[in-house]
Amino acid sequence: MSRTIVVTGAASGIGRATQSLLESAGDTVIGVDLAGSEIDADLSSADGRASLAAGVHERLEGRPLDAVIAVAGVALPSALTVHVNYFGAAATLRDLRPLLDKSDAPRAALVSSFSTVQDVDHPLVDAMRADDESLAAARAEQITADGRGHLVYASTKRAISEWVRRTAITDAWARAGIPLNAVAPGIILTPMTAPLMETDEGRAQLTATVPMPLHGPADPIVIARALAWLTAPENTHITGQVLFVDGGAEASLRGPAIFDTPTPSY
Ligand code: NAI
Repeated sequence: MSRTIVVTGAASGIGRATQSLLESAGDTVIGVDLAGSEIDADLSSADGRASLAAGVHERLEGRPLDAVIAVAGVALPSALTVHVNYFGAAATLRDLRPLLDKSDAPRAALVSSFSTVQDVDHPLVDAMRADDESLAAARAEQITADGRGHLVYASTKRAISEWVRRTAITDAWARAGIPLNAVAPGIILTPMTAPLMETDEGRAQLTATVPMPLHGPADPIVIARALAWLTAPENTHITGQVLFVDGGAEASLRGPAIFDTPTPSY
């Protein structure tokens, strides 16, 4: 069965690998990126997000949209990371969700990160939880000016992972029959990590922060396969999950006892 799937960040790295994998399986992919894809859109801005929704609607020509995969992201110590990784990703899924209604097997996923479980700036995460884009952008600039800019990226990934867990079980997604999940990669060999992985010092620093006892750093196809499965018709009951595809990094860092959160009694 051929499906029509939107992939953002499709011009490079994980997004490009995902588009290729889906196309090789016979799907039609509408790639989205700053340039070089089917739709050029800057997801850091309201105008870019609006042009994404309009562009997808136009390209569908009445056909159903079967899945949305939000991959686009940046890893910079600045407000841009907040605009793209949290607000751009959430807007992509929220704005394209109505177009999934006509599909027989609608699915959605986004790419978060292992950084979900790293140190964050709590006021910055709170601003994203509150859906306050200008406050979050200002906080990102402030902590960067204070020399804590390295916390911006992890804060955006913590917030977008929480967004998936919060949003997936709402009526608009779960009751509408749409699984919504995140994949949280460890170190993936793409242009994003290339500057660090090119030097012995950078590689040692990154692999110490993200320990991957199973097979080490991975190629982007590894993440593409997880995204393809989560957004395939076979995935009927997995939703609201943050799937760590990280060679064991999250299990190494957090250990086995993560299930202690009190659960409400029914
Ligand atoms: P990449 O740099 O190869 O690809 C990212 C793509 O997103 C680029 O094509 C870029 O143009 C696009 N993009 C950036 N800003 C955009 C904007 N404003 N509007 C539209 N498109 C925009 O990086 P990679 O590694 O493929 O990253 C993809 C996702 O995976 C990101 O969300 C990243 O945070 C996440 N990730 C990557 C890891 C890695 O080790 N490479 C690890 C964990 C998560």
